[in-house]
Amino acid sequence: MSVRLGDVAPDFTAHTTQGEISFHEWLGDSWGVLFSHPKDFTPVCTTELGYVAKIKPEFDKRNVKVIGLSVDSVESHEKWEGDIGETQGTPVNFPMIGDPDRAVSNLYDMIHPNANDTLTVRSVFVIGPDKKVKLSITYPASTGRNFDEVLRVIDSLQLTAKFKVATPANWQYGNDVIIGGAVSDEEAKTLFPGGWKTVKPYLRVLPQPK
Ligand code: BEZ
Repeated sequence: MSVRLGDVAPDFTAHTTQGEISFHEWLGDSWGVLFSHPKDFTPVCTTELGYVAKIKPEFDKRNVKVIGLSVDSVESHEKWEGDIGETQGTPVNFPMIGDPDRAVSNLYDMIHPNANDTLTVRSVFVIGPDKKVKLSITYPASTGRNFDEVLRVIDSLQLTAKFKVATPANWQYGNDVIIGGAVSDEEAKTLFPGGWKTVKPYLRVLPQPK
């Protein structure tokens, strides 16, 4: 079963490099990023885990918990993490799920048989504090993900959860935003007393609310 935007992220218990976790309980009131790797001891995955470990303070700042997964065992992850620390200059500082029976991979539809029938694709799920899926992205095994983009999307998700705005193409935190299409000019006057620029009646731009 595929997991779609707006669905409650399926709950599970799993063995991880930081002990057994019950996913929803582990998330608590935080946002979460669950991301899969095809396999341990592989080059692209090694660079991805190292990069996520380096920018973990950026996830912490946004109240986001990060958790990785591959179809290898926790024992294998633990051995591989030695290599990651050695080659990427940082220890892996978030839990990695061992999923040799593919229980979590199947629950989240992370195995795409026409790409590879045993290994996970590179999935990313961003989950909100309400446990609902806010973003899902899928990359093939051969392409490492851009985790700065994941942070950028989280900035947008958190902003648009708080204010009735949307973010335009290539938006970065601090850039101008767009008034949501469902907001009438009348309501916008109350919501955004500082005003906005009407480029077209459906394209109303204003500085990012803080
Ligand atoms: C990699 O991480 O480099 C990788 C993993 C599985 C298949 C192909 C590449």
